Amino acid sequence: MFYIIGLGLCDEKDITIRGLEAVKSSSRVYLEAYTSILMVQKERLEAFYGKDLILADRDMVETESDEILRDADTQNVSLLVVGDPFGATTHTDMILRARALKIPTRIIHNASIMNAIGACGLALYNFGQSVSLVFFTETWKPSSFYDRIKENTDLGLHTLVLLDIKVKEQSDENLARGRKIYEPPRYMSIPQAVLQLLETEDNRNSGTLSADKTLAIGMSRVGGGEEHQRIVCGTLAELASHPSDVFGEPLHSLVIVGKRLHPLEVEFTEGFAISRNTWRQVAKSIYGCALD
Ligand SMILES: *[C@@H]1O[C@H](CO)[C@@H](O)[C@H](O)[C@H]1NC(C)=O
Ligand SMILES: *[C@@H]1O[C@H](CO)[C@@H](O)[C@H](O)[C@H]1NC(C)=O
Repeated sequence: MFYIIGLGLCDEKDITIRGLEAVKSSSRVYLEAYTSILMVQKERLEAFYGKDLILADRDMVETESDEILRDADTQNVSLLVVGDPFGATTHTDMILRARALKIPTRIIHNASIMNAIGACGLALYNFGQSVSLVFFTETWKPSSFYDRIKENTDLGLHTLVLLDIKVKEQSDENLARGRKIYEPPRYMSIPQAVLQLLETEDNRNSGTLSADKTLAIGMSRVGGGEEHQRIVCGTLAELASHPSDVFGEPLHSLVIVGKRLHPLEVEFTEGFAISRNTWRQVAKSIYGCALD
């Protein structure tokens, strides 16, 4: 297993317990020394982890990835990254390299959806404002999120859409009678979110979102590990017509893909596409991504 482990931003104790276990099980542990500035010394990390760390500078991560991945098919090897594993695109490169060598990989986040969303393969720096989408009712369809999405897409930026959760909700009757009886929790599904987005586009009609020309990525249980996390991507029309259970267990989030798309990102995400052909086709002809 090849682990890429987020260390957090502060000190040696920000690593998660899962990350620490992976470090302890690894025969080699690299510390990436360039993406950000660590606030503690390497020696302090080594003392805390009980392991020697090999410093990996920019050059080594970029040009000696095969040396870093050596024997990771039979042993555990860890790469420690300051902050979160997806703060820099070079790790996408590493994962693709590991995949090509048939080495299983595991990413250990320093839990926050705001950084873990990078697991979808898009550069975090190209995300714009995040928005929240609430359950629409017959009479209440707030749509200010649409303006934020428009601003982002006009700049070519991706939008992280956080989907509504309703827990401890009371029915109108129970509320009126003051009975503390709660409805079962509800979690907005990816298809429902997409239908609400398209309904809003119909009302606003600015051409920001399109069923066939907007690419999006549905994610569930981000950071929950291979067994829980799901990533499914396609056009809005494809996501809307896909059965809800395909998207995995809640919590869900959705990424609306902006035009700033690198060919490497398309390559990384196409593995999650409902239709790889459509994904590549739209990326190329609508998004203008320079694919072969
Ligand atoms: C990592 O987790 C710790 C503990 O919850 C937190 O203090 C720190 O800010 C987190 N770092 C990042 C980059 O999320
Ligand atoms: C490597 O990691 C795997 C998966 O987490 C674990 O099951 C295994 O015991 C580890 N190997 C060693 C040598 O500790």
